[in-house]
Amino acid sequence: MIWYPYEQMKTMREPLKIIDAESVWLKTSEREIIDSISSWWSVIHGYKHPVLTEAVKAQADQFSHVMLGGLTHEPVQRLSDKLRNFLPGDLDYCFYSDSGSVAVEVALKMALQYYVNQGERQRTKVLSLTHAYHGDTFKAMEVGDDEDYHFILEAYGEKKTVFHIPTEIPALEEAFEKRHEELNCLIVEPLLQGAGGMRMYDAAFLKRARQLCDRYGVLLIFDEVATGFGRTGNRFAADLVQPDILVLGKALTGGYIGHAVTVANKKVYDGFYSDDPRKALMHGPTFMGNALACSVALKSIELFEQEDYMAKIHRIEQITRREMEGFEAPGIREVRILGGCVCVEVKDADSLKGYQQFAYEQGVFSRPFLNCMYAMVPYIISEEELMRVLRTMKAWFA
Ligand SMILES: Cc1ncc(COP(=O)(O)O)c(C=O)c1O
Repeated sequence: MIWYPYEQMKTMREPLKIIDAESVWLKTSEREIIDSISSWWSVIHGYKHPVLTEAVKAQADQFSHVMLGGLTHEPVQRLSDKLRNFLPGDLDYCFYSDSGSVAVEVALKMALQYYVNQGERQRTKVLSLTHAYHGDTFKAMEVGDDEDYHFILEAYGEKKTVFHIPTEIPALEEAFEKRHEELNCLIVEPLLQGAGGMRMYDAAFLKRARQLCDRYGVLLIFDEVATGFGRTGNRFAADLVQPDILVLGKALTGGYIGHAVTVANKKVYDGFYSDDPRKALMHGPTFMGNALACSVALKSIELFEQEDYMAKIHRIEQITRREMEGFEAPGIREVRILGGCVCVEVKDADSLKGYQQFAYEQGVFSRPFLNCMYAMVPYIISEEELMRVLRTMKAWFA
């Protein structure tokens, strides 16, 4: 018996059974549908990409996994070298884990221990954003602001180790002024808050955050699990403003295998580098640095560079703007577009009931949430396929 995610098992509709997948297409026994959300935003090269599939097969012929405790291997070394060159500035120190949520936990643990290692034990608090989503593990839920998880915080009682602010500069400045002595980090999904409702905001907020973090000695964490690898129209938001810790997941492996990485800059890494074993980072997921994941991630990044994926993403954004910008219909609150993400926010979430089935009948897989109908397509999508996705979205309001 499978217990499915985010579902009331008693009332959930039968999931679609996928029997094959290629390029942007998912195949059921009944029809082919375009995956307009890239398997939770991860499958950026589409399904069954020959280069990525070959990378997994070739690595499996050697070994699929060995632990990183006391062992190392070429795939993890090569991926780490690649990330060092691919990521901006001195974001050079890669700590791997098996999912985005765990990588966020690692980032938060790093930030706390960084200050404990310096003897600044009062820095126990985290600044975060309203509508944030950082994953489903416990600390990730706490820094997140998802109503679905508020019951957990209520169950444990008010602890207040996390403060949430909106993406507005005055609120940011006020929070730093008031709380800087107790903060170890500010964590944000930069430019685009995904699961909290596809909310887009300006880089000016991030620039001010960087200044304030520098002024008050607070670490800045970018959770780019969703935004990384081009989704916002930037390779990384970290190309615009550099964080101290960067979290990547989802598209890291082109959506082939669950894997994530928490990348620290030199300042953070040096905060642990010592003769004192108590200053080491105490973390180590069994499957960190999995050889299959690292091999496919390396190839995924090579494809991203060699085949000029940023141009593909800009083309997706152009077509999307042409088709969707200014689109209005009764019930629509706002259409938002950023890079390879488009969101139609409706006034009443109930007005999206039935859309998933409607889209399926038009040959599109979609999964609206909250009051958001959205698309985050694989970057290799053709214009014709993208048009089908966008026309389907519009047709629902006709
Ligand atoms: C910004 C962000 N952080 C973390 C996560 C959690 O990643 P995972 O589902 O791999 O644990 C997600 C997943 O949607 C996310 O969007």
